[in-house]
Amino acid sequence: MLNQAQAEQFQIEYLQPVEKREDAKSSWGQDIKEGLSQSPKTIPPKYFYDDQGSQLFEQICELPEYYPTRTEASILRKYAEEIVEITGICELVELGSGSSTKTRLLLDAYHQPNEVFKYMPIDVSAGILKESAIQLKQDYNSLEIKGLVGTYEQALTQLKPSAWPARMIFFLGSSIGNFSEAGYDNFLNKIAQVLENGDYFLLGIDLQKPKSTLEPAYNDSQGITAAFNLNMLTHLNNKFGGNFDVNNFKHQAIYNEERKQIEMYLLSEREQKISLEKLDLKVKLNKGEKILTEMSRKFNIEETRDKLESKKLKTIKVFTDENKWFALMLCQFSK
Ligand SMILES: C[S@@+](CC[C@H](N)C(=O)[O-])C[C@H]1O[C@@H](n2cnc3c(N)ncnc32)[C@H](O)[C@@H]1O
Repeated sequence: MLNQAQAEQFQIEYLQPVEKREDAKSSWGQDIKEGLSQSPKTIPPKYFYDDQGSQLFEQICELPEYYPTRTEASILRKYAEEIVEITGICELVELGSGSSTKTRLLLDAYHQPNEVFKYMPIDVSAGILKESAIQLKQDYNSLEIKGLVGTYEQALTQLKPSAWPARMIFFLGSSIGNFSEAGYDNFLNKIAQVLENGDYFLLGIDLQKPKSTLEPAYNDSQGITAAFNLNMLTHLNNKFGGNFDVNNFKHQAIYNEERKQIEMYLLSEREQKISLEKLDLKVKLNKGEKILTEMSRKFNIEETRDKLESKKLKTIKVFTDENKWFALMLCQFSK
């Protein structure tokens, strides 16, 4: 239990729905209507994350085949102190924080006894956000936590200016790889709009590597990634009054070498009619038809550096592991 003083430094806020026209397409439900009406059909990856999906993702992070989490954690373990030396104490804002497990490596480095510091985790999955915020508050008593429940788009348009001398937004787990090329560009524009001169951006990217390492990471032998992918349909059934039968779908993940991305699909094993009542949506799926549920693009450090630079995000330092499987790019915004 949190005591009175701790509870005062702990808040959870639900972000407002996106109303601006340019973002409305990605608002809840509308993106499903669009994605399931196009060819090939798509469902945005944010729908993986109901409470069950968040728990399954935690299990994925522990899988022997899933190298990204432990590789990124090893980089943070080695370089978190150096990151703090560069940025100094600043307000920490994390996009897609999930369980904040890896974040603890950064919090350990930023934590100074008896000095208040601030962390804003942001996630669409309210359950895991609240659970992890409570745990963090118990473990770091000088940490002021303000959790925001909502999407990246909501957060980046509704984030208030920081009262701290500097802010660092960080985005771990190579979740940036889930955006299309246009979505990636748009996301970085929003990051640049929200940062003030001198603020920092720390970005985790999964680097290009052979298919023989990549494909097993998304096709684990215990079938946890398959359960995670299929759970998206259960989430849609619950959220939108749908009638997906998960037994009629199969998980598939392949590496598209030309596009340098893992593509994760749900394959319809028979012809079927789906309805999502709350969205007033009816969809027909053919036998063998695939729904794209996630792209996970794999990056190259130099290209990413150039891209960040084009958004006035100057790379100060790149931290990587000995295999060069994953990188953390620390950037500073300068107008
Ligand atoms: C792949 S997990 C990564 C979790 C953690 N950052 C890590 O590196 O292990 C993605 C996290 O982002 C959240 N998420 C996914 N799409 C989101 C969106 N559009 N807006 C906000 N959060 C999102 C999920 O709920 C999940 O916790």
